[in-house]
Amino acid sequence: MKKIAVLTSGGDAPGMNACIRAVVRTALNNNMDIYGVERGYAGLIKGEISRLGTRSVSDMIHKGGTFLKTARCPEFKDKEVQKEAVEALSAYGIEGLIVIGGDGTFRGAKDLIENFGVPVVGIPGTIDNDLSYTDFTLGFDTAVNTVLWAINNLRDTMHSHDRVCLLEVMGRQCGDIALYAGVAGGAEYVLVPEVPYDLDEISAAIKKSYLRGKTSNMIILAEGAGKRDEIAAYIKEKSGISVKVTNFGYIQRGGSPNMQDRLLAARFGYKAVEILRDDGESCAVGIKNNKIITVPFSEVNNGAKFDKNLYEIARVLSL
Ligand code: ADP
Ligand code: F6P
Repeated sequence: MKKIAVLTSGGDAPGMNACIRAVVRTALNNNMDIYGVERGYAGLIKGEISRLGTRSVSDMIHKGGTFLKTARCPEFKDKEVQKEAVEALSAYGIEGLIVIGGDGTFRGAKDLIENFGVPVVGIPGTIDNDLSYTDFTLGFDTAVNTVLWAINNLRDTMHSHDRVCLLEVMGRQCGDIALYAGVAGGAEYVLVPEVPYDLDEISAAIKKSYLRGKTSNMIILAEGAGKRDEIAAYIKEKSGISVKVTNFGYIQRGGSPNMQDRLLAARFGYKAVEILRDDGESCAVGIKNNKIITVPFSEVNNGAKFDKNLYEIARVLSL
């Protein structure tokens, strides 16, 4: 293949810019033309496509967000709308597409492949880490470290005031951000969608710990595991101890990618271009045991990858 395009879609994630840079420079190194699509599928159907050069990605490696912009485009589920995307690609003579995004983005990619035969390579880019075929998605590591920064700050103030706090983090239906940050931050309780929890038990344990002199407790709540205010109110009612609630929100999605995410960006981007250059099968790239892997889009979410052992470690270390 000689002419390819790249887009970012769904929620932005730290490392997307570094990954676009890797795609652009690998393509140019292989004498391929590389185009950037703005605003994900929303821009693709409107033909917001322009040629990228090596300088288009200068001074990008350290920047959060995505300079190509991203968007949610619900109408892309419609086959007629997907056809507009295919027409836009053909208008530029683009032979293959690299999409950087999450689960939804990959569903869009699968439709382009199956409905129209467009060759697509997917790069997992989302802070949620909610694709089971890959150990890590681009942006997850940076986001967890940002949450860790918040946990450290919360610890200072909560400990000083002898308070119990609840911090809600993102992740959609995946508890990985909460779990990894919870273990690394020494949280007492980690509430995730993958494991049922008992608020009566938690309330009783908090009360008991309070009576034996442990007056500060931290609960990390994954957004998919319950409603923060209801949980805090319930614990207060059952234990008599008030819970200070913080929703960390969009801060965790921005910021400069760390070393892990910049390396992933480079390796994913390089591999994705190689596949299109060699006219390889459409697939998603990922990382397993520190090796770059490829899988068909139909297998990106086969089976769960929630780390039950890490969850058990979180429980044991919080005692
Ligand atoms: P993410 O890619 O991070 O999971 P979204 O779920 O918002 O984020 O998906 C990104 C975009 O992918 C959507 O806005 C939509 O354009 C497209 N998409 C999502 N689901 C589908 C689907 N079932 N079929 C086709 N396209 C989809
Ligand atoms: O998928 C990334 C993510 O940040 C999720 O963790 C969160 O639920 C969602 O996106 C928020 O979406 P939006 O940016 O549309 O509010």
